[in-house]
Amino acid sequence: MTWWRGAAVYQVYPRSFADADGDGVGDLAGIESRLPYLRDLGVDALWISPWYDSPMADGGYDVADYRAIDPRFGTLWDAERLIAAAHAHGLKVIIDIVPNHTSDRHPWFQAALAAAPGSPERARYHFRDAPNNWRSRFGGPAWTRVDDGQYYLHLFDTAQPDLNWDNADVRAEFVSILRFWLDRGVDGFRIDVADRLAKQAGLPDRVAPTRAAPDASVPGVGASKPGVPEATVPTFAGEGPQPDKDQPEVHDVYREWRRVLDEYPDRAFVGEIWVPDPERFAMYLRPDELHTAFNFAFLKCAWEARALRGVIDRTLAAHAPVGAAPTWVLSNHDVTRHATRYGRADTRFTKRVHDVPSDPELGLRRARAAALLSMALPGSVYIYQGDELGLPEVFDLPDGSREDPVFRRTGGADLGRDGCRVPLPWGGDAPPFEFGDGGAWLPQPPEWRDRTAARQLADPASMLSLYRLALRLRRDDPALGDGPMQWLDAPDGVLAFTRGPRFTCTVNLTDRPIPLPAGKPLIASAPLEPAPDSGGAPALPPDAAAWLRT
Ligand code: GLC
Repeated sequence: MTWWRGAAVYQVYPRSFADADGDGVGDLAGIESRLPYLRDLGVDALWISPWYDSPMADGGYDVADYRAIDPRFGTLWDAERLIAAAHAHGLKVIIDIVPNHTSDRHPWFQAALAAAPGSPERARYHFRDAPNNWRSRFGGPAWTRVDDGQYYLHLFDTAQPDLNWDNADVRAEFVSILRFWLDRGVDGFRIDVADRLAKQAGLPDRVAPTRAAPDASVPGVGASKPGVPEATVPTFAGEGPQPDKDQPEVHDVYREWRRVLDEYPDRAFVGEIWVPDPERFAMYLRPDELHTAFNFAFLKCAWEARALRGVIDRTLAAHAPVGAAPTWVLSNHDVTRHATRYGRADTRFTKRVHDVPSDPELGLRRARAAALLSMALPGSVYIYQGDELGLPEVFDLPDGSREDPVFRRTGGADLGRDGCRVPLPWGGDAPPFEFGDGGAWLPQPPEWRDRTAARQLADPASMLSLYRLALRLRRDDPALGDGPMQWLDAPDGVLAFTRGPRFTCTVNLTDRPIPLPAGKPLIASAPLEPAPDSGGAPALPPDAAAWLRT
């Protein structure tokens, strides 16, 4: 009963997935209508980004009512129906829980504003007479002044006041929310900003980091040293504990949550934990805490063999002592899509940039290879909606259509995350590409006519066809998913490893074809070529990956 240890999990960002009611915004009925697509894609579970009642100041990560569905997305009944329908399609459902902050429209925060300084209502949040030096992750100060002169803390947007996790009401409320959704059949929770709930007592100032300041706008992304190849930068190293993150008390919260979850069979947590130190990261995955956490070191890593191997080894080493299964993540709704990142000269993800050129063909080629790499590694794999279509980041959105608060709070210096949230192209020749009947809340590039799911389904060489075949092979092969792996000797720039006695994955990150090891190719991210001096034996071209039956 440990599906989460090896699952292929598909992230649905509900605003941008599929729109059934034609208002230009995706909804739960839209997700339900596309369940056959997800089943046929071959994923095991969905992670649905927040669907709760929300003013959408941060795309739903500002929750006004944790027990209600936003009317734009549907109703509680739609959610119950979607959970049941997903189960009927053999898909687990992980929902997003947002415990670090509420919306400023949440009744608790409204009550806190109406109440006096020092009141129990204010004690559920962090109100102070004077701010400290903390900065919002979205830019600008982390404190906003209210009418009576007090300030409240918001590590993200002003519309996202941080809850006070020392407060008994807060703890009890979230246990009750977990039960509310567990009782409705969800299979797990993705925990938003999981490492920041507990703050150091007294909220002392942050100390200046000794290395380059972390990027303020991407949650948890620390800057790498410019010009230093990733291979020589310890990927997990970075800023140490800070008073607003990774405080020891946060583990008490997850121990309590785990006891609740364990009352329900077969459920799992996945934490959004941007803690670079491997030992500290692994503490969240102790047997009485979270089951899994996102592997952001893998996401941030350069498309470079030595660097990737280092991250993979450090990931396995960090997870082994606590017996947790690793995760492999290439993209999500917060970062530049990897088909774009991998087409750049510097393929690391350190922070969002928009003025750096990317070669779309190279990016796509590498994204195909990365898909096979991530699906072959031990543990679970995350697919962000549109990865399976090879969608690139969209940079040229009209400013007026941008909704991410990052754009506003940085005065446009950071274009924000809307470029990876453009509604999916399902079919047809013109926007909104069957996303819905009523347009799309962000404009889709017209050239996505060649990227629609319908078009790719008909093309065996498409990204979608690659994902579908790879996911089927992955599901059918007991050696894939959870379990051991072993590196094989390989030339510089090549990654080769086995899963079990009969499966090999080879990734060529050099700039020339390499001979393939012996075996029957199961799938390749690019057409195999006859190797120059091999009498016609197949070779793996540059920036490509193959799975072999040996
Ligand atoms: C997480 C979410 C991100 C959100 C932030 C604040 O990092 O992934 O989208 O803006 O938390 O809730």
